[in-house]
Parts: sequence; C-alpha cells; structure tokens
Amino acid sequence: ISLKPYNTFGIDVNAKHFVSVKSVNELQSVLLLKNYPDKLILGGGSNMLLTKDIDALVIHINLKGIETINQDEDYVFVKANAGENWHEFVLWCLANNYGGIENLSLIPGNVGTAPIQNIGAYGVELKDIFYECEALTISDGSIVRFNKKDCNFGYRNSIFKEHAKGKYIITNVTFKLSKRNHKLQIKYGTIALQLEEMKVSCPNIQDISKAVIAIRESKLPNPKDIGNSGSFFKNPIISKALYDALLKNFHDIPCYPLSDTEVKVPAGWLIEKAGFKGKRYSDYGVHKNQALVLVNYGNAKGKDILKLSKLIQDTIERLFNIKIEAEVNII
Ligand code: EPU
Repeated sequence: ISLKPYNTFGIDVNAKHFVSVKSVNELQSVLLLKNYPDKLILGGGSNMLLTKDIDALVIHINLKGIETINQDEDYVFVKANAGENWHEFVLWCLANNYGGIENLSLIPGNVGTAPIQNIGAYGVELKDIFYECEALTISDGSIVRFNKKDCNFGYRNSIFKEHAKGKYIITNVTFKLSKRNHKLQIKYGTIALQLEEMKVSCPNIQDISKAVIAIRESKLPNPKDIGNSGSFFKNPIISKALYDALLKNFHDIPCYPLSDTEVKVPAGWLIEKAGFKGKRYSDYGVHKNQALVLVNYGNAKGKDILKLSKLIQDTIERLFNIKIEAEVNII
C-alpha cells in the first residue's frame, strides 16, 4: 500500500506489508510473527522522511483512548494511548482545564511518538509534563515501564533516540497536569506579543493555546496543505568561542545562551542567511516563512528532499563552520 496518507511529508512510497493495530494484544501477536524480522513502526508519521519503498513490515500504531487515572485537588494524572493525535489530546486537556500542555498546541504527530524526540515549543517541552510511559519490547512483546528519569530527556532527544533506539514501541503515556494555579509559560517573546494583539491582558491556559496556534499557523505550513515534517533540522549547539568569532562577521546572529561555554543558534537563521529561505526546486523546497522547514509541494521524492537537506548542511558548514543535524528520521 502507499504510505502517502501516513506521513505528513506526503511522500508516496509503497509498503510491501502493512498492519494497523488497535490493541496492545494485537500488537504483541504481530511482534511475535516470525516471518517479518524487519519492522518499521509508524505513529503519526510527522517526523520522518521516507526515501524508498519499504520491505519491512510496517506496523501502524492505532491505539486509542484517554483516561484520568488519579487526581487530587491540584494535579491530575492522565493516561493517553499512543495512537491519539497529539493536538486533539491537547484540546481534550484544555476542555477539562488541565494545564501545562497549552504551549504544545498544534504540534503534528501522535501521543506515542512525542516522548521519542521530547517535543517542545515556546518554552515548554514534553518532559515538563511527562510522568511515565509504557512500551512493548519489539524482540519479545514484553511490557516495560519508563519513568521520567529512565527516559533521559534532552533537547529533541531521549533514550528512545539513543541506546533504546529501535527496541521499544511506546503504547501509552501518562502526563501530570495541573488542575488549578496553572503555571503559565509566556517568557517566549512572541507569545506575549500575540496575547497583546489578541487584547488578552490576563491570560488563561486556553488563551495561551490560542496564541500558540495563531503563531504556528502564521509561520508553519499545515501538512494538510503542504507536506512537511516541522523543523527538519535541530538548532545546533556551538561553543561560545565560535559564536563570538561569528559575531564579528554576522552582527545579528541570534543565540539562546546555554552555559558559560555553549550557546544554541537558530538553524532557521543560518539557513535564511545562506539564501535558502523560500527557495523552490520543482516540487520541493524551503518554506517561505520558516527556513527550518523543508516542504513537499506535491509529488516530491524523499530522495530529492534528502539531497536538498545535504546541500543545506554543506553550505552551512562552509559558511559558518557549524554542522547542523537533521531532526527528522531519514528512512
Ligand atoms: N529565524 C530566522 N529565519 C527563519 C526562521 C527563524 O531568522 O526562517 C530566526 C529568528 O531570528 C527567530 C529565531 O530564528 O527569532 C527563532 O525562530 P522560532 O521562534 O521560529 O523558533 P526556531 O528556533 O526556529 C524552535 C523549534 C520549533 C518550535 C519553535 C518555537 C527546533 C528545531 N525547532 O524553532 O519546533 O515550534 O522553536 O518554540 O528546536 C519542530 O520541532 O518541528 C518545531 C516546529
């Protein structure tokens, strides 16, 4: 079958063997099938670039359901199954007035894949509300639990991208959310500006979600209209010494300070400075409002987008002596 509807880049490659699973039991039996040694796990398909037809068994994780498992006056523990759409889950939380998740509105993808790259936006990361997750071991179908510490979350990173990579399938995630005295995160400048524009002076979590949605809609292409995987690259972390050296030639290079010796630089700025922003090559290119996002205008091949990403990486290295790393998984 064609995987075009299953990846937000909208790349048309074929899977020889495909199964969509709706329960953990079903997933366990599929994992024990002996005749398919290679497996590709597919969640929301929002963080992958497919560059060729897939011979492996593609397992689409379609586990649904959200439940409140525990609460007191201040906090609630909500467990969501891996196949729930991330943004719909955020909206469910907001409708119940559960806070902490509002800055993560409108991020494409599913609940089960969110911990893998510790999704983050506007000053909040998944790790800030993560309590624990359950996963199945791919080799034998056994159930394993990971608490926050086990996950070893970092910037767009976790154990699931490091030594647990390819070993587990997350089946559900439990979040710890606030029920009252929500701690609003509006330090990210653009949120404050957006709230001002919306004429909201005393925001609640629903207002923050609306502000985030408005900002994202103005900058990031909707995968329903233009295929994309959000940020294609991670923002690189460089030494303060290199940053200071670059400042001499590029006076307006922005940075987020990390420590006395390291800063993070927005890759979008580097890519824009290198002249790629808004560039279109036949059916693919670099988004016009956010240079960090590569796009498929229709029938682009994954290979072409990969080639463009390499050209961008080489150019950035040549111009700035900075290596930028892909954030999306290349398959
Ligand atoms: N910038 C440019 N040109 C561009 C894009 C950005 O000059 O085309 C510069 C601007 O100076 C801007 C700065 O980069 O001030 C930061 O831009 P923005 O606030 O849009 O954030 P980002 O660093 O480009 C990161 C995340 C996004 C997340 C936003 C908001 C990564 C790889 N990306 O982008 O996450 O939404 O911050 O918090 O960390 C994603 O991961 O898919 C994603 C969209």
